[in-house]
Amino acid sequence: MKKKSKLNSTNADKYDLYEKSVQSVEFEVQFIDKMFRKYNRGKCFDIREDFCATASISAEWVKHNKNKKAFAIDLDRKILNVAKKRINKYLSQEQSNRLQLIHGNSQSKITKKVDSVVAMNFSYWVFKDRSSLKKYFSNAYKHLKKDGILLIDAFGGYEAHQELEERTKHNGFTYVWDQHKFNPINNDLTCFIHFEFSNGSKIKRAFKYEWRLWSLPEITECLKSVGFDLVDIYMQGWDEKNDCESEKFYHVKKCDADPGWIAYIVALK
Ligand SMILES: C[S@@+](CC[C@H](N)C(=O)[O-])C[C@H]1O[C@@H](n2cnc3c(N)ncnc32)[C@H](O)[C@@H]1O
Repeated sequence: MKKKSKLNSTNADKYDLYEKSVQSVEFEVQFIDKMFRKYNRGKCFDIREDFCATASISAEWVKHNKNKKAFAIDLDRKILNVAKKRINKYLSQEQSNRLQLIHGNSQSKITKKVDSVVAMNFSYWVFKDRSSLKKYFSNAYKHLKKDGILLIDAFGGYEAHQELEERTKHNGFTYVWDQHKFNPINNDLTCFIHFEFSNGSKIKRAFKYEWRLWSLPEITECLKSVGFDLVDIYMQGWDEKNDCESEKFYHVKKCDADPGWIAYIVALK
């Protein structure tokens, strides 16, 4: 039998590595349904995935249930072509018919109204001033049905203000999160993702992000100012036994000043 070659910089697909190290699409799809139940908003059928990149949340969404539909939006045609190839590879024809890839700016693109708008992995941090952030939130608000929910995420803690590299080992590769430059004057943050392999090869700067580090109170204020009725924060829990982040997120009004945290933000119409 032919031996499978080990993962390295030439045979690895950076989008596969990204999905394995950064995304938790199954969790997120369940989280959307859970939030709908929790806030008595009925059932969530349609989502709009802003800043979708490879549209993996949308793909998981339509796989989950045959009544679910997704509109996935990204500004970059190249990434939408990658998304299309992945959808053809991983979804049946029937499933992909319920997923629409749309080229456009999430801040202004008009689509059908949906039950839930989702924007994950801090993508809305491309908007670096209040007026453009509020313009995005306002467009998300406009695209929600009466009982709709917006789901976004954020990270913070004092480590978020530092220039640092964090390595996480995965099966066959190491994921490197590089907080490369941080400017405390305006909170501009430049980050990269690199991948390293056991044969010494690397994919340097596989992904680059130019963001503003927004705080939870700033995000909450901007959401409320465009009309969201209620904004709740769900902080990631801590697994005492294994001394690491747990897979549970808790609705909190107050929490410890951890060095690094990740939260989901749920905004209700
Ligand atoms: C951090 S990645 C997306 C990650 C993905 N949402 C996830 O959960 O992992 C950011 C994506 O946003 C897209 N993007 C940046 N600005 C945008 C905009 N104004 N409207 C739509 N897409 C945008 C980029 O092309 C890129 O594919």
